Amino acid sequence: MLQRLLYIFLLAAILASCAENKVKYRIGVSQCSHDIWRDKQNAELKMGAYFHDGVALKFAAAYDSDERQVQQIDSLVNEGIDLLIVAPNQVQTISPAIDRAYDKGIPVIVFERKTSSRKYTAFISADNYEMGRIMGEYIVSRLHGHGSVLEIKGLEGSSPSIERHNGFMDAIKNAPGIKVVGSLQGDWTEQTAYETTQQWLANNKDVRVDLVFGANDRTAIGARRAMLEVTAPLPHREGFGGGSLFCGIDGLPGENGGIQLVRDSLLDASYIYPTHGDQIIELAVNILEGKPYEKETLLMSALVTRDNAQVLLMQSEELMRQAHRLDQLHDKADNYLHKLDTQRVVNWMTIGIITLLVIVFVLFYLYHLRKISMQQERVANTLWNMESPKASPSPSEGGDVQIDDATKNSVSSGNQTSLPSEGLGEASPFLSRFREAVEARLEDSDLSVDDLAADMNLSRVQLYRKVKAVTGASPVELLRTARLHRAYQLLLTTDKSVSEVAYTVGFTAPSYFTKCFKEEYGKVPGDVRKN
Ligand code: FRU
Repeated sequence: MLQRLLYIFLLAAILASCAENKVKYRIGVSQCSHDIWRDKQNAELKMGAYFHDGVALKFAAAYDSDERQVQQIDSLVNEGIDLLIVAPNQVQTISPAIDRAYDKGIPVIVFERKTSSRKYTAFISADNYEMGRIMGEYIVSRLHGHGSVLEIKGLEGSSPSIERHNGFMDAIKNAPGIKVVGSLQGDWTEQTAYETTQQWLANNKDVRVDLVFGANDRTAIGARRAMLEVTAPLPHREGFGGGSLFCGIDGLPGENGGIQLVRDSLLDASYIYPTHGDQIIELAVNILEGKPYEKETLLMSALVTRDNAQVLLMQSEELMRQAHRLDQLHDKADNYLHKLDTQRVVNWMTIGIITLLVIVFVLFYLYHLRKISMQQERVANTLWNMESPKASPSPSEGGDVQIDDATKNSVSSGNQTSLPSEGLGEASPFLSRFREAVEARLEDSDLSVDDLAADMNLSRVQLYRKVKAVTGASPVELLRTARLHRAYQLLLTTDKSVSEVAYTVGFTAPSYFTKCFKEEYGKVPGDVRKN
């Protein structure tokens, strides 16, 4: 019983604390790749989720593999996400998985890279065509309308690669002095760009390159690495490595990000490709909560050159610092909430345990009291043959007192009722002696416990201990019970006045006798006489 109560308290406490952290929306994030650009965006997505109660994010990164991304989207859907955020690796290949999610009624936000399908809820990205075009115009002006450019594209089949290339080509169309000496296929990674450029340089030893346009900053840096290598063995090839200019796209803040690379002149220019993870979460929550939202969102961006790199770096570093502080603050708040939850459980458990202990203690105490009073009553009744006044029905319960003829006769004839030995067990010889000692001197108002002890050849302490141990009552209490009982019998069987009865049973003051009588039987002696 106790154990069951304890379980109920524990369960209630745990449920109360769990209810606080309930997840309302599960959002799956399927990233096509894993790199510093995605890291920044994932951090922003997490930060965005902090601002909404009950939003849980589940991330998956496909590391540029179509099959892996398809699998990951399917398993996110199977796990029961409420919304899918996806950057598809390539336009065609990932669409079937996205369509499957959409057809199951899961809202889909496509971000940054496009799919071939129209089955999505919202699309959010910067304009990759525009980025390529602006970068093309910058290159034209940087080379004063004359020069040779080597292009290294992004992953074939991914929409930013196609669009950036188209924008760039459209921009240089109007500059006949700009010659694209090569358009190499990259895959967004530095290593592929390095290897492809190495290869191209080996096959085009005499071709001069004034500027390399990489589809992203990592690609531009990979190409730079390859070109610097060939500068050493072929020092006569001016314009290679140190002499060439390198432009990319992404313009990330932070260590080794595009902005720093421009400031330090490793890149000539970059273009900020906005990550805006917090804005994507905002859009997701609006969709989930049925609030109005834009189906197509175009993110603004800007060119990074040597002129603005230092300022942009300072600003972005400040922003990153603030974001870091916010993150720390969130961790702290999370920590406090955790502690609060634990504290709440501990409090509930403590209250539960204390309540249980109090209940157990009270029950035990009541049980003990009852046991003592039953024991006292039983011994007193048995001792003085109380079948009459206190036995059924008890006078103190207001019932009529019945006294059988045998008792009446025995009392009126002056006989003492003999002590029944049943119920008193091994203590009966002692109690028998005690009763005899008491009854022999019941009318003696000066009778003290010392006298009784002396009559029984015991010390006062011995008598007290023995009587108390056997009956639970003290000799004085039993003496008083005996006096009152005799009085009750006298009231029923004689014509003596209440005062006479009081003196007869050893009370010195009738008023005190009446008080004790009332306490014992719940009625005054006069009421017994009326019966
Ligand atoms: C990051 C990235 C960026 C690039 C973008 C194109 O994964 O490779 O460097 O600008 O993806 O989608």
